[in-house]
Amino acid sequence: MYKIAVIPGDGTGPEVAREGLKVLEQASKKFGFKYETKVFDFGGQRYLNTGKVLEDSDIVELKKYSAIFLGAIGHPDVKPGILETGILLKLRFAFDQYINLRPVKLYNAKFCPLRDKKPEDIDFVVVRENSEGLYKGMGEFKSKGSSDEVAIQISYNTRKGVERCIRYAFEYTRKRNNKKKLTLCGKTNVLTYAWDLWQRTFNEVAGEYPDVTTDYAHVDATTMWFVKNPEWFDVIVTDNMFGDIITDLGAMIQGGMGIAAGGNINPQGVSMFEPIGGSAPKYTGKNVINPLAAICAVGMMLENLGEAEAAKAIEQVVIGIVNKDLKSLAAGKMGYSTSQVGDLVIKRLE
Ligand code: IPM
Ligand code: MN
Repeated sequence: MYKIAVIPGDGTGPEVAREGLKVLEQASKKFGFKYETKVFDFGGQRYLNTGKVLEDSDIVELKKYSAIFLGAIGHPDVKPGILETGILLKLRFAFDQYINLRPVKLYNAKFCPLRDKKPEDIDFVVVRENSEGLYKGMGEFKSKGSSDEVAIQISYNTRKGVERCIRYAFEYTRKRNNKKKLTLCGKTNVLTYAWDLWQRTFNEVAGEYPDVTTDYAHVDATTMWFVKNPEWFDVIVTDNMFGDIITDLGAMIQGGMGIAAGGNINPQGVSMFEPIGGSAPKYTGKNVINPLAAICAVGMMLENLGEAEAAKAIEQVVIGIVNKDLKSLAAGKMGYSTSQVGDLVIKRLE
């Protein structure tokens, strides 16, 4: 029996989460696994009503669950940073979800903004470190507000943190397919402390994986290759900040935020799955947002829980819908409403 904590969150989060849960229900019927859900109202609205983001007692409660399914966090009436650090990053850190796994897979060439790129050209996974780096929130102001002000923001990288991420990436690469190529994406030419540690650790761990081909690309060049030669990539491992940036570009080349899903993974603990597109406030309540990213996140969650067959089936259904039904992957242009897309997935899954 899987216990799923659901955080629908803000904006279009509840709409896409609802479709994701419909698909979870259908998948459980078809593949015979049992689950229960509990909804938690963490998000912008609750913060505006109560002043609360995420309490330590909430973390204790969430620890009882097999996984967390998140819609979106972000509210136009809340100052940037409060909900992000108070909820999303707090969850990632509290559960030590040290991997942010972001597959970049093009399902239909028609939805790719790059000319002449086909699904077989855009099929890679970014393993983003998810617990350290610039996201650690370390730093300080000196002489704040004065003309001599200095703002320091530290990228914090530990050998243990870097190594566990790199090891995960090697294991993942070994199992993913026959390409078995892992690219380290960094900035060794400028960030000579952090990326020296990353590069050394990468080279050392690589010695244990002779079957995996390794490569290195600077982060700026990586963004260039994403556009020019995305077919070069199989698995990419990178730090928290670079991973954040390159996966937005990754989402665009796979067809947009409407289809991009990710998992915040603690291989030994509670992991959290989410569409990576955010709360899209302007589409809230209109039943026009694309729920496929949330549905793919449910697929990733099932894969992670050990329901590989159900995960595979969901992906196949999504591929079919992206190829045969949808006019576009963008909100309001799909030719279907949010709930109709969810219904289609369910029907095809039957
Ligand atoms: C993401 C988001 C978050 C991040 C924000 C909302 C804090 O952009 O999941 O990529 O920067 O990690
Ligand atoms: Mn991001």
